Amino acid sequence: METKKNASKEHDLDAYVRMLSLADLLREPVILSAIRMLKLPSGSRGLDVGCRAGHHTLRLAKAVAPAGHVSGLDLSPELLVHARELANKSRFSEHVSFQDWDMNKLPFDDNSFDWVWSADTIWIGPKGCSAGASLPLIKELTRVVKPGGCVAILFWSSQKLLPGFPLLEARLNTTSPAIAPFTRGMKPNFHFLCTRGWLRDAYLENLVGHTFVTDFQAPLSDDIRSALTALFQSFWGNAQSEVTPEDWAEFERICQPESPDFILNRLDYSAFLTYSLFHGKVVKEKND
Ligand SMILES: C[S@@+](CC[C@H](N)C(=O)[O-])C[C@H]1O[C@@H](n2cnc3c(N)ncnc32)[C@H](O)[C@@H]1O
Repeated sequence: METKKNASKEHDLDAYVRMLSLADLLREPVILSAIRMLKLPSGSRGLDVGCRAGHHTLRLAKAVAPAGHVSGLDLSPELLVHARELANKSRFSEHVSFQDWDMNKLPFDDNSFDWVWSADTIWIGPKGCSAGASLPLIKELTRVVKPGGCVAILFWSSQKLLPGFPLLEARLNTTSPAIAPFTRGMKPNFHFLCTRGWLRDAYLENLVGHTFVTDFQAPLSDDIRSALTALFQSFWGNAQSEVTPEDWAEFERICQPESPDFILNRLDYSAFLTYSLFHGKVVKEKND
């Protein structure tokens, strides 16, 4: 019984990782732009906090190649199995390493890295989500970066995916699956657009916030089409109980691939998503 349960868990995880790789195609251009903006020094050592299956870790390793090194850290040992597999298939396996650990208490000495990167991980909600309190966590990330180095925090910040249906999309976006990890009742200061405030309170300097956009325009490649189809389901596929029957019928009509009105079949389909990068420089004398 237990073995069957484990096998199904592994199957779920494999399917999840496949979905992640697909979704990763959608954000690759914005992530590469963000990495370019940081101008990470060649040969530098960095930390990717909440690295999941290691997609960004490898891009970061490429940015600091040939001699740099990136440590990926995640709470989930299962996801790190996939991260190591991905790394072994790449040219950068010697330049990355992975460790399962809680980011709230990093297993590294002060000043161990030239920079820290964390994407879509420092979410704060009323239930604590992944990170607990933002300021202690930002201070913990800052602690392990050398003076003069950089702390970079990124968030998937918005998307417009349903051209012609802005109100339906807005209503779908208010449902619980779509607003995760933001939950109702979240304190205003926990919103990602307040990140520069967290960085300032952690005594970082030269604070910058910048939003990158990537477009999807018909004709879509098969991969982008599959990724967008999967995204519709992951954002809104479980929202039926939270919208009107009319909205649900409209969602199914335009977002299901088998529907004759599937929105990705439109010859003029246009959509976009954005990622926001916030970063700051670690000062010489760190304060507690
Ligand atoms: C939404 S995913 C983002 C992953 C990756 N940075 C990306 O952009 O593809 C958040 C990741 O943070 C990890 N995580 C959550 N809480 C954590 C903690 N306290 N310490 C370390 N990792 C954590 C999760 O396991 C998950 O892989």
